[in-house]
Amino acid sequence: MLNNKFYVTTPIYYPSGRFHIGTAYTTVLADSIKRYHKLKGEDTYMLTGTDEHGQKIQEVAKKNGQTPKEYVDKMANVAKELWAKMDIQYDDYIQTTETRHEKVVQKIFEKFKEQGDIYKGEYEGLYCVPCETYFTQTQLVNGKCPDCGRDVIPMKEEAYFFNMKKYTDKLLKYYEENPDFIKPDYRKNEMINNFIKPGLEDLCVTRTTFDWGIKVPSDPKHVVYVWLDALVNYLSALNYLSDEDDTLMKKYWPADLQIVGKDIARFHLIYWPIFLMALDLPLPKTILVHNWIMMKDGKMSKSKGNVIYPETLLDRYGLDAVRYFLLREMPVAQDGIFSPEQFVERYNFDLCNDLSNLLNRTISMVNKYFDGNVPNYNGTINEVDKELEEFTNKQIDNFEMKLNNYEIANALQEIWTLISRTNKYIDETMPWSLAKEEKTEQLKSVMYHLIENLRKIAILISPFMSSTANKIFKQIGIEKNELKLWYSLKNYDKIENVKTIQKGEPIFMRLNKEEEIAYIQDAMNNK
Ligand code: MSP
Repeated sequence: MLNNKFYVTTPIYYPSGRFHIGTAYTTVLADSIKRYHKLKGEDTYMLTGTDEHGQKIQEVAKKNGQTPKEYVDKMANVAKELWAKMDIQYDDYIQTTETRHEKVVQKIFEKFKEQGDIYKGEYEGLYCVPCETYFTQTQLVNGKCPDCGRDVIPMKEEAYFFNMKKYTDKLLKYYEENPDFIKPDYRKNEMINNFIKPGLEDLCVTRTTFDWGIKVPSDPKHVVYVWLDALVNYLSALNYLSDEDDTLMKKYWPADLQIVGKDIARFHLIYWPIFLMALDLPLPKTILVHNWIMMKDGKMSKSKGNVIYPETLLDRYGLDAVRYFLLREMPVAQDGIFSPEQFVERYNFDLCNDLSNLLNRTISMVNKYFDGNVPNYNGTINEVDKELEEFTNKQIDNFEMKLNNYEIANALQEIWTLISRTNKYIDETMPWSLAKEEKTEQLKSVMYHLIENLRKIAILISPFMSSTANKIFKQIGIEKNELKLWYSLKNYDKIENVKTIQKGEPIFMRLNKEEEIAYIQDAMNNK
């Protein structure tokens, strides 16, 4: 049975500075998975946005000589421009300073208070200002914030608390009964061992030390803690508890996939499900926790001069190369390393040698031997063809299996295995000898199979690299609309009497290794 809707979310980003490649990674991941589901005919919905309250934003705005609202609006536009440049097909962009969001946060807060889930107390703890999070002494790492490594300061304030303890057992039971809820699986144990087993602390959900936040209606000297505010975006964007109609909520909740980085896993795997339980709402089907893009010398940081911004790569190498690299090189379950060397290598090997060459060789042979006309399918006329067809179908299955388990890098690897196998098919069948020996039927079959496999490869890569897929469709003379359907992927008789164009530009041109490494390195050092 088809699951016919798919709601995917990214975290909402802090607009406290320029968006780097890590932010782009999460968003490209969500966009690609959404496109895959859309290709399968599902009703998809993708949400992204910006997380605009809190002390840090207030400070940054001040530094920029702007009001917080002016500043966050400007940054939301910066994000939207970047997503447009990266062809991100989100359906809604939420800013937490929008009235539609603020009203819902206030209603939820008061509801929790009325239900007795939120109570008033006093908070004393070690506070990390940039992370806006309190920690206990035992949570600190070398006396510093466990999330960002910076100093923490002792603080005390009157505050409201959410009674997490009330829901701990229910949460553990839910983890147990829903093995797909957390991916990868090891994150579940991490939550249990590091946070739940030692005793889940009640969460402090208001602040009085600054005022750039959503006011608690019944006690307005308090603003709602930025994480409770932020997490609600996934619901407020669907008009949950709003005066607007609830079509979106009915149609799309629960989310099918929520993608988050490892640093914010705790908020999404513990507090978020508990808030949802307190609201009596179903939980998202899967929360996917991805690891980080690291640099050779550790975390990206401005002071180290090792930050890479998406624009540096986009402007020079094009969108698809960047999207491919991010998804292929960053295994979701482990950290990936960005290096200029690896970027150039992947470009030259995977995109140029493997993919672009397969297309060029095929196009030029079909032109040479059949004047650009793709022969019709004649079944499998020998073992080599049969083997190629079986191999291809197996790769398509492998691809889907990996993708459905959100192992994106592995899914891409399955496509590239297919590309290599198809290149090898040329070497095995030696079309040039078949032409010389006038084995026309065999030659026709080889050309057909090559074009057909290119069609399949183009369909498979289209969620990740849509303009490259379109270029391939165009060069092999196929109307994208007719044949893009996912469900025709495994058929081998879909192409009839199409004509390839006479001469296509190579889709990727080999890069000069030294020059390009130096270029990227320079950009990283200078910005
Ligand atoms: N505002 C919160 C999220 C609230 S969601 C209800 C936040 N924002 S953030 O801008 O700091 O981070 C957003 C996302 O970017 C997180 O998922 C984080 O893991 C991710 N990344 C930040 N740096 C990254 C890398 N170097 N690599 C990959 N992802 C990274 O947290």
